[in-house]
Amino acid sequence: MDSNTAMAPTIIHLRHEDKPLEHRSALTPTTAKALLDAGYTVNVERSPARIFDDDEFSSVGCSLVPTGSWREAPADHIIVGLKELPEEEFPLKHVHVQFAHCYKGSGGWETVLARFPRGGGALLDLEFLQDPNTGRRVAAFGYSAGFSGSALALKNWAWQQTHPATEPLPGVESYPNEGALIADIKGALEAARAKAGRLPRVIVIGALGRCGRGAVDMCLKAGIPDDHILKWDMEETAKGGPFQEIHESDIFVNCIYLTSKIPHFVNLESLKKPGRKLTVVCDVSADTTNPNPTVPVEGLEGEPLSVISIDHLPSLLPRESSEAFSNDLLPYLLKLNDWQNDPVWAGAKKLFDEKVKTLPKDALN
Ligand SMILES: NC(=O)c1ccc[n+]([C@@H]2O[C@H](COP(=O)([O-])OP(=O)(O)OC[C@H]3O[C@@H](n4cnc5c(N)ncnc54)[C@H](O)[C@@H]3O)[C@@H](O)[C@H]2O)c1
Repeated sequence: MDSNTAMAPTIIHLRHEDKPLEHRSALTPTTAKALLDAGYTVNVERSPARIFDDDEFSSVGCSLVPTGSWREAPADHIIVGLKELPEEEFPLKHVHVQFAHCYKGSGGWETVLARFPRGGGALLDLEFLQDPNTGRRVAAFGYSAGFSGSALALKNWAWQQTHPATEPLPGVESYPNEGALIADIKGALEAARAKAGRLPRVIVIGALGRCGRGAVDMCLKAGIPDDHILKWDMEETAKGGPFQEIHESDIFVNCIYLTSKIPHFVNLESLKKPGRKLTVVCDVSADTTNPNPTVPVEGLEGEPLSVISIDHLPSLLPRESSEAFSNDLLPYLLKLNDWQNDPVWAGAKKLFDEKVKTLPKDALN
């Protein structure tokens, strides 16, 4: 199709995100405006949680619609969101663009996935939008995850220098913007430097990837000298762990994308060796759900060791992480009016069809 003008415009419906602590958005006022300019209609659910005010969307020309109204929207509206739908049972009649986390066999995947074929709808999962030529994901939150994870690790190290070991870092709220986060981390590091007489040494593993680049950039923006940051990727870990270099760093930020079993980078035995400087580990790669930013590691003597393991790190910077993600996605969002014939969306639909075929029969009833 060459133009939207001859036909009724494609209607995109931006959902309110229901997940607690989720302030990010798949569309931003900037990308919504680009869609409007290209002839789309963009309906935006009012959302008290979203980092962008409702007015930011209405002022660029989007129509504001009630929170949760996607359920009653006409079947040809394309429902765009970021994270999982609320846990409900009714069959889904729309095309949904979102991260659904139901393709890797995690608990309850059948129930989540079966709702789409049961209602004649489809899932175009954002995690699996790939450039057919390079196989690379077209949009991902990795950079923001590494950036935020590294920030929390620095904040945690600074806290350790200025507070007794019995007082762990309290929970953190999201920041209104990147400047506020950097100012906070710089302030904490200054206070820590005054006390400890130095800045931390950081090792980032997976430094060439999306998360790793974000982690390194955060350290630099927070004022950590470049020679205090060890940037490792495949080449440096090829010899196999555990690694003394991790032990000798103050902070370890793990950003690797692990696809097969490899020797441990650190283990309890290596951590028990005397002379450990390492006091903070941030496992950006983590796929676990942990409501607190850090957990102390038990069974170690000497310096305390905090581990940060959060699976929604980009939520710390909802504005910038949404802007970056939605901008990367925009060229593909602009193809939604003819998604069946676009290789990236059609690839996501093919994967959906394949996954639906693996559903147990009783899940479809
Ligand atoms: N916690 C969160 O909120 C969050 C958010 C986004 C992504 N992630 C996770 O972070 C991980 C990384 O994602 P990404 O988008 O940065 O991936 P990526 O593919 O862009 O980068 C991964 C990097 O790790 C390197 N690597 C892989 N194996 C290694 C090894 N054995 N030794 C050293 N380097 C190695 C690769 O060479 C690559 O440079 C994934 O597991 C992803 O699911 C977590």
